[in-house]
Amino acid sequence: HEDHLPDFENKVKAFFSEHIHDAEEIRYIIDGSGYFDVRDFEDKWIRIWIKKGDLMTLPEGIYHRFTCDTDNFIHAMRLFKGVPVWTPFNRPQEDHVSRKHYVEAYVEPTKAE
Ligand code: LAC
Ligand code: NI
Repeated sequence: HEDHLPDFENKVKAFFSEHIHDAEEIRYIIDGSGYFDVRDFEDKWIRIWIKKGDLMTLPEGIYHRFTCDTDNFIHAMRLFKGVPVWTPFNRPQEDHVSRKHYVEAYVEPTKAE
C-alpha cells in the first residue's frame, strides 16, 4: 500500500517487469491480495490471485511478475533459505544459470512427453 511502501509507484512498476531470481521466491500472505503472473510452457501468462492465508513458492529461474489488484493492498512475508536475496533479473535471461536450471528441470521434461 502506498502509505507503507516507500516509492510505491516505482516499486510496483519494477515488480511488474518480468523477471527471475537466483533463489526460490517464497511468499506467505498475511493480509490483502494481489496477482502473481507466471509463464506456462507455451510462454503464455497464468495469473494467480493470491490472498490472505496463501503460501506460494515460485521455483528459482521461473519468469514471473507481480501487480496489485484493485484493493492496492497486500501484506506479504518473504521467506528465504539462507541469506535473503530478492534481486530481480529482468527478461531475457536465457544464459543465466538459474534460468538454465529451470528449463532443464521443468520445461524440457514437458517437451519430451
Ligand atoms: C518479488 C516479486 C514481486 O520479486 O516477484 O518480490
Ligand atoms: Ni520476483
